[in-house]
Amino acid sequence: MAFADGEIAQVRAATDIVAVISEHVALKRSGRRWTGLCPFHGEKTPSFSVNAEQGVYYCFGCRASGDAIKFVREIQHVDFRDAMQFLADKAGIELHEDESSGLKNKERKELMEAMAQAVEWYHERLLTSPDAGRARQYLRARGIDGETVRKFKLGWAPDAWDALATSLKLPVKVLTGTGLGFENSRGRRQDALRARVVFPIFDTAGKPIALGGRILPPHPDDPPRTDGRVEPKYKNSPETAIYSKRRTLYALNVAKDDIIKSGEILVCEGYTDVIGFFQAGVPRAVATCGTALSEEHFKTMRNFARRIVLAYDADAAGQSAAASVYQWERKHEVDVAVVRLPSGMDPGELAQKDPQALRDAVAAAIPFLQFRLDRVLAGANLTSAEGRARAAEAAVEVVAEHPTELVRDQYLQQIADRCRVDVERLRPMVDAAIRRGPRPDGPPARVVETDVPHEPTFDLRNSPRPGLAALSVLIHQPDSAEGRFEAAYFLDETQRRAFEALTGGQLVADAVDALERQDDGAAAQLIRMVSVEDFGDGPLGDKEINDIVAQLLRASATDALKEIDRDLRAGAVTPASAMAVIRDVKLRLAELGGPDTLAAEAELRAWLVSREDVHVD
Ligand code: UTP
Ligand code: MN
Repeated sequence: MAFADGEIAQVRAATDIVAVISEHVALKRSGRRWTGLCPFHGEKTPSFSVNAEQGVYYCFGCRASGDAIKFVREIQHVDFRDAMQFLADKAGIELHEDESSGLKNKERKELMEAMAQAVEWYHERLLTSPDAGRARQYLRARGIDGETVRKFKLGWAPDAWDALATSLKLPVKVLTGTGLGFENSRGRRQDALRARVVFPIFDTAGKPIALGGRILPPHPDDPPRTDGRVEPKYKNSPETAIYSKRRTLYALNVAKDDIIKSGEILVCEGYTDVIGFFQAGVPRAVATCGTALSEEHFKTMRNFARRIVLAYDADAAGQSAAASVYQWERKHEVDVAVVRLPSGMDPGELAQKDPQALRDAVAAAIPFLQFRLDRVLAGANLTSAEGRARAAEAAVEVVAEHPTELVRDQYLQQIADRCRVDVERLRPMVDAAIRRGPRPDGPPARVVETDVPHEPTFDLRNSPRPGLAALSVLIHQPDSAEGRFEAAYFLDETQRRAFEALTGGQLVADAVDALERQDDGAAAQLIRMVSVEDFGDGPLGDKEINDIVAQLLRASATDALKEIDRDLRAGAVTPASAMAVIRDVKLRLAELGGPDTLAAEAELRAWLVSREDVHVD
């Protein structure tokens, strides 16, 4: 991204920022400034202003700000280079990128070309190759017809080690750069996907940037596996120079038109769910690619529609990180709704079994908070006074996560009606829940990240913060970490496995090696990333480490309490004993950070570890 000296300044100076922004916003002169409706958030009165002399813009509503280059980047979703190129072309300036970035650009292009060739090759194999018969039959059986296969450019990766690499003569650098393959331990090129149905992933412009590959269901003629390994259902391309999972939405390229037309975008979990929606006549579905929904995804979607409808299977939808969804909903001024699906069914299945039911479910989507509230209340026993009280308590917790009081109020009224309690009793409960602060997000997403061998990726941003800090202490200040952390403190599975590897009494490098040998690329990568990440200036002191421990304890204890609550509702424990434990734990949690913090820590630790042992059995 480096340009020759002074070129950035030259482009800035030659650019009329008002003209550039006017292509997207109706600007009106007001004194020395220009004002208009902000293109980065929804508003009815103008709070977006441009200063032509300084060449900058600022929005008083959403605080978006920057210069012309940044504006182009944000509005067109392009990188710095492309924004520079766009503005330079306008101003008639010829850019001289320094050699290294020119090279980078050339490499990118090479990777994009290889990916495009690979997608064509896989697609052609699926359409015509005799060895793809089973794949074609499988897709047909799932109701995926030829037209759909072409629309999504589905493919078939033959059952061979290096068919793609050899046929396309892809050099190792391109293989690994795209994630299409790698060099194996014997120094031979190997394809990443083998005997899998290929789902290409495109950017919004319709250029392929990555792949997902699905195994076929087992066949009676298959020889049994002898190595005892279970193949993951999907293998996905790793993050590469041309592919960022955090930003990419599967099928957005083909769904775009209907999304804009309808003002609504459906998000689901799987490639096949998206395809199901299209086949059912709802061609505005996209999916994340084996990762949780990120804010980047949200921002991208918001550029196309103001209504985001989650279409996860029922359990996953309730679990999606609620606090962030509300936050993003407000920050990006969108409405988030949820499609209610029959339990245990994903959109892909419903599309095949009963497309009309899927269309109806989309039309009947309800607000996210309503969905979560309904789930809590549906799981409760509302026939007894105790049951209703407990239900009200659980429901209040859910409502407390919503940041807007006016919205909370309306749902409180609902809880009051449905649980037959006085709404005035609920208000202080909400306030208390809010004061306690956001609870850690629910259990880790059901979706398992699987990647091409040797190229695992791990999204640091989706990894809970306190766990990362703990791992960092473990790596950088092993002496201070001594005896402070337990595996049970880590709710995030990847973090937990990383922790266990690190505490196996070995050096960091050995821990990473051990994880690689177990094919646990995600945990290995996590350790690598934490090793290079800077989590503050200099070593942490006692107080900071105490804080980290306290945060971990709070999160894991809260999680354990939820489990007790579930046991209680399931009748697996008596109310008296459960209540005693809950009270005790809450008391200890409140003591964390106070004068008795070490005693509280010791008790919580003992409690969590003892629960852990029970679970392992
Ligand atoms: P699902 O298991 O729900 O698969 O995973 P699916 O898309 O419904 O596929 P079918 O219907 O069984 O064929 C949803 C998504 O999670 C990611 C993929 O992106 C998948 O589409 N995933 C799933 C993985 O990355 N790896 C896996 O092993 C499984
Ligand atoms: Mn499915």
